[in-house]
Amino acid sequence: MTEMNPNEIDIVKAETSKIKSVDFSNLTFGRVFSDHMFVCDFEDGKWQTPKITPYQAMTIDPSARVFHYGQAVFEGMKAYKDDDGKIFLFRPDQNSARINKSSARLAIPEFPKDYFLNGLETLLKLDSDWIKPGLGNSLYIRPFVIATEPAISASPADTYRFMIICSPAKAYYNEPVRVLFAEKFSRSADGGVGFAKAAGNYAAQFYPTSLAQKKGFQQIIWTDASTHQYLEEAGTMNIFFRVGNKLITAPNNDRILDGVTRKSVLQLAKDMNMDYEVRRVSVEEIKEAAKDGSLKEIFGTGTAAVISPVSAFEHGGDVFEISPVEDSFAKLFKDTLMHIQHNLAEDAHGWRHEVI
Ligand code: COI
Repeated sequence: MTEMNPNEIDIVKAETSKIKSVDFSNLTFGRVFSDHMFVCDFEDGKWQTPKITPYQAMTIDPSARVFHYGQAVFEGMKAYKDDDGKIFLFRPDQNSARINKSSARLAIPEFPKDYFLNGLETLLKLDSDWIKPGLGNSLYIRPFVIATEPAISASPADTYRFMIICSPAKAYYNEPVRVLFAEKFSRSADGGVGFAKAAGNYAAQFYPTSLAQKKGFQQIIWTDASTHQYLEEAGTMNIFFRVGNKLITAPNNDRILDGVTRKSVLQLAKDMNMDYEVRRVSVEEIKEAAKDGSLKEIFGTGTAAVISPVSAFEHGGDVFEISPVEDSFAKLFKDTLMHIQHNLAEDAHGWRHEVI
């Protein structure tokens, strides 16, 4: 087998750009896509020469495995532009590693890191006008892999498509979110796929989340599937609790997504000499802390959500409101992270990756 050159990409440029029709001051998350997309097919046991083409609909056989068995994984990343027009990614090696971890769990072949990064950087350079400078602006990047083989037998496909599409984005949540602590439904179980960014993990949350929304809560904080006594993650975000001045978050396990923002916040907490614990967090202790006034903050962390404060939670019919605090940790982490991402602060850990 001849080795493929990761720098080789067949590029067909869009004849005209859609960018003039986009109101960048009024974006709804994930509705508008940039001019180009990256596509690489896995056929005959190997990834073929990647392509960048104009963003467009595509034809996939109705029997493709992805439609029947959900053999699909994805990632979430962002590109940022500083005031000098330099483009940055944030810890992209983490996303490349994680999509392959997710793929391995779903029996999807790994996508080589150099194909991923070179493909993404080439795409970003073509669509660089879509990345607006300024804190809070970003181009959300959605890499994903789908099983394309036309056959409805319940087994891994022989053919796949790896793609990257991009969408200009501001905040995922515009307001603090109200959440329910899960008491009946579960997001994931031991030995399952909760740690993976498997498409089905998200679909499985839609119904319980729609029930929560009818009660006035935007999100669910998922609890462990066997006892529902321990708080795990929010589905679109990992979750942190501040009790007094101590920061607490659940440890990674096979039910929880290994969030890049989560691990960055933990590193920042360490850098700032904060008191923090990575351990199981019980529903009861958080309810007790809310009752005795020591629960200062709950916030979610994620690429899309960045840092998203929680303003109330419900459990067992009781609703606990969380009043905003002056010295908010959520705000401190959000500002610190965004300044690093936008090249406005020192990057002590080498998280920024310049797209050259
Ligand atoms: C992300 O934060 O990038 C995600 O993939 C979460 C998604 C629900 C928007």
